[in-house]
Amino acid sequence: MAAPITEKTEVWGNTVLVEFDEGIAWVTLNRPGKRNAMSPTLNDEMVRTLDALEGDPRCKVLVLTGAGDSFSAGMDLKEYFREVDESGDTGLQIRVRRASAEWQWKRLSNWSKPTIAMVNGWCFGGAFTPLVACDLAITDEEAQYGLSEINWGIPPGGVVSRALAATVSQRDALYFIMTGEPFDGRRAAEMRLVNEAVPAARLRERTRELALKLASMNPVVMRAAKVGYKLAQEMPWEQAEDYLYAKLEQSQFLDADTGRQKGLSQFLDEKTFRPGLTAYLND
Ligand code: COA
Repeated sequence: MAAPITEKTEVWGNTVLVEFDEGIAWVTLNRPGKRNAMSPTLNDEMVRTLDALEGDPRCKVLVLTGAGDSFSAGMDLKEYFREVDESGDTGLQIRVRRASAEWQWKRLSNWSKPTIAMVNGWCFGGAFTPLVACDLAITDEEAQYGLSEINWGIPPGGVVSRALAATVSQRDALYFIMTGEPFDGRRAAEMRLVNEAVPAARLRERTRELALKLASMNPVVMRAAKVGYKLAQEMPWEQAEDYLYAKLEQSQFLDADTGRQKGLSQFLDEKTFRPGLTAYLND
């Protein structure tokens, strides 16, 4: 196990580090010796980490990253594939697949707080799933990505192909699925797999800037906005309209901060706020 990154870092289990910093929970996959490959232990610990952080007031925004020079080298080829295959235990196979899916997309994609993937290095195969499940992603421009599966005799597993279909064009997805060629962070940003690519020296600072912006927003409205966007994609228009109005009304009902009334009053009565003139982060 690697040493904690700073004196504030908490060691959660054997494979996860968590550091709290002004409302940001920096969650680090912590198997640097194995390039943070996702083993059954890591998957179990990440399920517990997401559950614990969801109710933890120190976490307003979650940043997912990896220890050392890797985001994650994907599923652990030894512990997740070979050892489970060789056990001949179908119950074990079902259990490890379930834990993997539970955190990598089921919990993460509709998590109640904003999430950012900070891709600091290698990002391969199964790692595309939590990458896409995070709401936003910032990458080191030199990080190396790859859907290497085809090179060693399997198609991308889990929901990796589904995750790609949700983010990049069919041309880009099929090119990298079918060739297995690696690509860098700049290319990942160009094809919109991630929001931005920045030099390594700026990666943490830029991610922190974005996370602090999200942490400052009204959490009730934020949850309704992000979950509403994601779930409405799967619905016919009529259902989506009804569901999104229900989300809007739900957030009004739950918002102790009365953000909607305040916002309307600031614009219409006090004339102190013009949302159209709010600066963008990139400016
Ligand atoms: N599963 C299990 N172990 C992995 C792993 C994975 N996906 N990726 C790396 N490791 C292990 C290596 O076996 C090695 O273990 P060892 O020290 O006990 O021999 C250790 O991590 C370091 O890997 P190494 O290949 O020496 O590091 P590197 O920095 O030279 O290269 C990668 C890094 C990520 C390019 C390379 O490890 C790699 O190609 N990994 C496989 C990526 C992949 O195809 N993932 C898809 C899985 S779905």
